[in-house]
Amino acid sequence: MSIMQMLREKAKTNVKTIVLPEGDEARTVKAAAILKAEGIARPVLLGNTEKVAFAAKEAGADISGICVVDPETSEKTKVYAEELYELRKSKGISPEDALKLVKDSMYYGIMMVKTGDADGLVSGAVHTTGDMLRPALQIIKTKPGCKVVSSAFLMDCPNKSLGENGLLVYSDCVVMPNPSAEELAHIAVSAAETAKTLCGIQEPRVAMLSFSTKGSAKHELVSKVQQATQLAHELRPDLLLDGEMQFDAAIVPEVGQSKAKGSPVAGRANVLVFPDLQAGNIGYKITQRIGGAECFAVLQGLAKPCNDLSRGCSVDDIVTTVAATAVQAQ
Ligand code: ACO
Repeated sequence: MSIMQMLREKAKTNVKTIVLPEGDEARTVKAAAILKAEGIARPVLLGNTEKVAFAAKEAGADISGICVVDPETSEKTKVYAEELYELRKSKGISPEDALKLVKDSMYYGIMMVKTGDADGLVSGAVHTTGDMLRPALQIIKTKPGCKVVSSAFLMDCPNKSLGENGLLVYSDCVVMPNPSAEELAHIAVSAAETAKTLCGIQEPRVAMLSFSTKGSAKHELVSKVQQATQLAHELRPDLLLDGEMQFDAAIVPEVGQSKAKGSPVAGRANVLVFPDLQAGNIGYKITQRIGGAECFAVLQGLAKPCNDLSRGCSVDDIVTTVAATAVQAQ
């Protein structure tokens, strides 16, 4: 069973309420109908009720029985505005600003998650990554013990000898443009947790990637990864984590054996931590487009699950991401 199918099945075992702020968007209403019909999640669609109903009719999606909320007129809008004002007044927000913000579906959805009225949120079919991330970072914040929010791409590769039966976790490919060594260490720990809790990988083996393997090159960029490796060991001494190492040393057993002999990770890594966002974002796209991997991303390190879609996403991508969000909420 693929990771996508596995997550859908797991989501059904403990059904969660997931809010979809882009409720009047064609792919989103179709996904909501599937989520309800298959019992993967209880979707909540946000938007003007007439616009949502029109989008569903146009898309041929049966959204009967699905909760639709209009942030402009909802009885909760005032309550959320007061709560948002309390949360952000130290940042200079006024009560009027807070009310204006929660009438925006993205902020309303984030407030639903913050207050526990929803278990998670999925958005990004229309909004950019930044539009989706900023309210989540400002309001939901990081979970205890974790310094940064980052992302993990679950890469389901056709070559099943790679990683964990073809599954590789790539991090960070979405959020942090240029993490410090300390931030990179936190990204590595979060990625190992994602591998275990979301993907069911019993033994995450984390490789800290670089253009150098075990001191083969000397450069300040290499030093950052070496320092991050050391800090990650201090954060989680129990983790199988090693670095710095090159991509081939991480995933090809013979190369790992020759370049990093004795490493518990080299040649058999299933979690790959990239040194910065340029490397991570380019790396996942190469794996997807040239390597033929199926993939999708989740955010990690947030106190409650909120996930971003690509604007080019399909209905199927939305269903999978909602399933993953529901599993994170379990
Ligand atoms: N973890 C935790 N908190 C964070 C993080 C983080 N990684 N980044 C920012 N924050 C917090 C800040 O501390 C701040 O909190 P505060 O307001 O309570 O003080 C709040 O979030 C806003 O911070 P800003 O610095 O104002 O946010 P910024 O404008 O830098 O936006 C963002 C943050 C959106 C994550 C930015 O770093 C970004 O644009 N990242 C790249 C996104 C992107 O384009 N990815 C690639 C495309 S996606 C794809 O290809 C699939």
